[in-house]
Amino acid sequence: MKNNTLDLDNKAFRELLEKSNQLVLEQFGQVQEQPGYHDYKQEEVASWFDEALPEEASDKDELFQFVRDRVLNTATGNFGPHMYAYVMAGGTQVSVVAEQLAVTINQNLGKWHLGPAMNEIEQRVVKWGAEMLDYPQSAGGIMVSGGSAANLAGLTVARNVFFEKLQIRKKGLFGQKPFVVYASKEVHGCVDKSLEVLGIGSDHLRKIDTNPDFTINLQALEDQIMEDRKNGLLPFCLIGNAGTVNTGAIDDLEALAALAKKYSLWYHVDGAYGALAAALPSIRHKYRGMEKADSVAIDFHKWLYQTFEAGCVLIRDWKTLKGAYYKEADYLDTQSEDDKRLDLNKHSFQLSRNAKAFKVWLSLKAYGFNAIRAMIQKDVDLAKYLAEQVKSAADFELHADSDLAITCFRYTGKLTDRAEIESLNRQLIPALEQDGRVFITGTKLNGEFVIRACFINHRKSVATTDYLLNVIREVGQQLELDK
Ligand SMILES: Cc1ncc(COP(=O)(O)O)c(C=O)c1O
Repeated sequence: MKNNTLDLDNKAFRELLEKSNQLVLEQFGQVQEQPGYHDYKQEEVASWFDEALPEEASDKDELFQFVRDRVLNTATGNFGPHMYAYVMAGGTQVSVVAEQLAVTINQNLGKWHLGPAMNEIEQRVVKWGAEMLDYPQSAGGIMVSGGSAANLAGLTVARNVFFEKLQIRKKGLFGQKPFVVYASKEVHGCVDKSLEVLGIGSDHLRKIDTNPDFTINLQALEDQIMEDRKNGLLPFCLIGNAGTVNTGAIDDLEALAALAKKYSLWYHVDGAYGALAAALPSIRHKYRGMEKADSVAIDFHKWLYQTFEAGCVLIRDWKTLKGAYYKEADYLDTQSEDDKRLDLNKHSFQLSRNAKAFKVWLSLKAYGFNAIRAMIQKDVDLAKYLAEQVKSAADFELHADSDLAITCFRYTGKLTDRAEIESLNRQLIPALEQDGRVFITGTKLNGEFVIRACFINHRKSVATTDYLLNVIREVGQQLELDK
């Protein structure tokens, strides 16, 4: 230790960095072979870490060996190509480096003068995010932990700004008639959670029926708005999906914008999964109307391949964002009245904030957006390739493909009975977890259980996609034999 601090001397610190770099290189050396899952029992994993508070320093070699064996080499295969579950992007090497640089200077982005360059970088990334979506360049925005937080932030701004006259920031929601929010049945569960946190209540989220392609049914939506109005409720916010989590369905965002205008509703778009694919010339037209949203949730740890966490909310302008959160505090506001610095704590709930935008900025600069765009297109193409393979196979059936990169299907094997097929596919998910070669989960579409493959990883290829189907086939056949 140096000068009675926690700092190591230069030699020891260099050795620590070298050990760490060695582990990073080792992980990337085997990234293409990373298995999807290691099927350890929870009690076993818990037992590795079950120890009393370490009062004394550990031997660094032993410590790094332990980290290698127990943490890195047992990791769920998120950064390799065999992850298909949920919406899990693998990360970029540049983000790995960026994270280390950002934590080195440990800036707090709550106030501009606590991290001038990082604050400017965050604002630039917000602008670039808006540019990717064709959203107005005057947009304000803030980095948050992920899509859930971005939706919560958008809906918080919606509530606070829409009801400014009622002073609900100060007085709360007491005595107000219920506000009603509209979205399709396919809306992500974080919206329910957000409305519960915001005191609106998930009972006031109207989940509107969808069309066969899982987009919101506009007639059903308008009927519901009118009925709620007739019943004395207060329709307040309309949420469009720019890529649903189940199938990647993109609502008719233009029609929703028109309805929001007609009924004077706040228009929020959940683009956490899919909005960044609007940057693809091949599907840009599908997003028409998103630029009219009052707020949009986007997520760079999805389709910009960033390491967790890197969500972002865009609001039409900075003033509106500030109107939702601004609070003064003696211990914070020591600058003069006319200070023009944009302090992010006045535009968000958080005060202390890390530099989430730095890895996004460095990735965009280092790779160029063209290269990233090409990877998003590759994901979309691979999902289509999988859908084609499923369609042409006698032992699989396709349940949903999408304009984005999710394919939902079932393994049927030799079965024809619908109930038996359902049961086999339910059994397949834990069986595949036990097998470990790929990591994939399922969902329910129209009440039926299906396997769901999400492509959001630049390390996937036609070969890894073929591998997925072969592994499912092998494990499925074994289940059939074991019956
Ligand atoms: C459409 C949609 N919205 C919101 C979320 C939540 O994002 P996060 O997991 O980053 O909180 C997801 C996650 O998959 C999503 O697909």
